[in-house]
Amino acid sequence: MAGTIKTISLFCGCGGMDLGLEGGFSYLGKKYSKLPFQIIKAIDNDPFCTKIYNENFKTKCETQDVRRLNTNDLKDFDLLVGGFPCQSFSISAQNPPRLGYKDDNGRLFFEMVRILKKKRPKAFIAENVKGLLSANKGMAFPMIINEFEKAGYHVVHKLLIASKYGVPQRRERVIIIGFRNKRNFNVFEFPDEEQEKRVLRDVIDESANTEEKWFFSEKAVVGMMNVREKMNKGRVQDLDKPCNTISSHLAKVSLNSTDPVLFVDGRYRRFTPAEAARIQSFPDSFLFGSVSQSKQYKAIGNAVPPVMMWNIAKKVAEAMR
Ligand SMILES: C[S@@+](CC[C@H](N)C(=O)[O-])C[C@H]1O[C@@H](n2cnc3c(N)ncnc32)[C@H](O)[C@@H]1O
Repeated sequence: MAGTIKTISLFCGCGGMDLGLEGGFSYLGKKYSKLPFQIIKAIDNDPFCTKIYNENFKTKCETQDVRRLNTNDLKDFDLLVGGFPCQSFSISAQNPPRLGYKDDNGRLFFEMVRILKKKRPKAFIAENVKGLLSANKGMAFPMIINEFEKAGYHVVHKLLIASKYGVPQRRERVIIIGFRNKRNFNVFEFPDEEQEKRVLRDVIDESANTEEKWFFSEKAVVGMMNVREKMNKGRVQDLDKPCNTISSHLAKVSLNSTDPVLFVDGRYRRFTPAEAARIQSFPDSFLFGSVSQSKQYKAIGNAVPPVMMWNIAKKVAEAMR
């Protein structure tokens, strides 16, 4: 069965979504088996993501703007996947304000629609932030669903919380799935919750507690203390619960933001890139080292948690069988 569902991945980033789709990895002692998807083409316009991706996947990612992709050059395939860029829909996007589909970036889902219309694969999976549901005063989401339906798909969507699917993080993401065939659509069900609940303690690297570079300076702590009551900043995480959502600006993580941080022996510290990757459910075997730490944080923070994606992909494969 492996490799029988030919897949094109747009906006593939460092490959969180694609790793979940292909499967065949272990995370915290559990095996996530190989699934029948085979990535035959992957595209992202960020050369640093491409570099990480290419260290980890057989099919190499092309550094390219999806808008320049010529559908005449594409072979036939079965599934289109894409976590189209989310900055314009994100609730944390205040500067610039949330423009939703009025922003160039917010219109990139149209690239998925364009390819679906031309190539008519059997199914697609799109992913985005929770803010997509409320962007443009609630008008963006029905418009997006309508565009996918007009492209010829029966569409279903759900807001999933990663912590219910084996990931130690309360990341909420909208998953939109479409099938050309009504029978595939009728039998599809979103995955059940994984029995195993992972918490932050499962992925923390105790050895980082002895490295000064991960701790915030005294000055940063004093600054945060001055505004903490008012602004609920310095979001210390409970090790026995899933972590709050980590974001793509982890490299610039601050005590004066809503970023999750750790409190160790009376001091505040940030997550290491390896911890951030584990919070996102990347296996320890996934290679990030070909780019700088700040690029690693960005790619990791942008990714779809592979373990959550694996659970979704397994159900899509069953429906397409
Ligand atoms: C939310 S991230 C996708 C993460 C990916 N799904 C994963 O799981 O790792 C969105 C990606 O879209 C890429 N991107 C943004 N605009 C693009 C464009 N015009 N063409 C190609 N890629 C683009 C960004 O570089 C970023 O990696």
